Amino acid sequence: MAWVTQTLSSSLGRKVIMSLTGLFLSSFLIIHMAGNLQLFKGDGGRSFNEYTYFMTHNPLIMTVSYLLYSSILVHALMAFILTRYNQSSRPVKYAYSKPEANSDWSSRNMGILGTVLLLFILIHMRTFWYEMHFGSVPMAEYDGKEYKDLYSVVQAAFGELWYVVLYVVCMVALGYHMAHGFQSGFQTLGIRHRKYTPIIESLGKYFFAIIVPAAFASMPIYVYLQVHHFI
Ligand code: HEM
Repeated sequence: MAWVTQTLSSSLGRKVIMSLTGLFLSSFLIIHMAGNLQLFKGDGGRSFNEYTYFMTHNPLIMTVSYLLYSSILVHALMAFILTRYNQSSRPVKYAYSKPEANSDWSSRNMGILGTVLLLFILIHMRTFWYEMHFGSVPMAEYDGKEYKDLYSVVQAAFGELWYVVLYVVCMVALGYHMAHGFQSGFQTLGIRHRKYTPIIESLGKYFFAIIVPAAFASMPIYVYLQVHHFI
């Protein structure tokens, strides 16, 4: 197990762990977004409830969930350790450093964006995940089979304007975090290719930084408008 302690105690090893966990979390985002699109079905929440039932009862997905929770924690912990290490190894800033001239806003604010996202995930999991597992969620019946009516929990949460605003703001943070994070993950792993690197960069800049956060942000907005009979 010496390689584990060695990896965890070297700066490069920590960066590699951050890249691997970050890219795994990016793949989770695609699946989570695709599944939550069931909210737009307009079938009173049936597809959404069937989807969440599947996600919380399939043994393979349940196992991957534990990998997901650990990845969130490890990713955040490594970011914290690396930031502290960088600060302590250079306590006085370079006199002539002009970071805004050499890097973009996202890359200089990954720490604060990540902190916002960690807080978002905690609030989000308290609202949905905790209710699903430990709360008293009403039941719905489809074709004689009982399901937890998580759709009603979603409606109650996204029926509140402040909650919708919180989600939209956090999705802007997600967009900026991904704009730098996705391509940076590949760069740290040393994956550079004349043909594929531009594809990876575009995927980060357009798909992960714009389309995915916009799709997530549209969910609370849509449910809010539906709950209040605007649509
Ligand atoms: C805005 C639309 C979203 C909706 C409607 C939504 C809905 C849900 C629901 C119902 C659950 C609990 C059921 C389950 O475990 O499958 C859940 C879990 C979770 N969500 Fe979301 N979510 C949204 C956005 C996000 C975003 C943007 C992130 C991350 C940045 C996120 C991260 C998570 C995580 C980590 C879990 C725990 C997953 C697990 O237990 O396997 N969600 N979400």
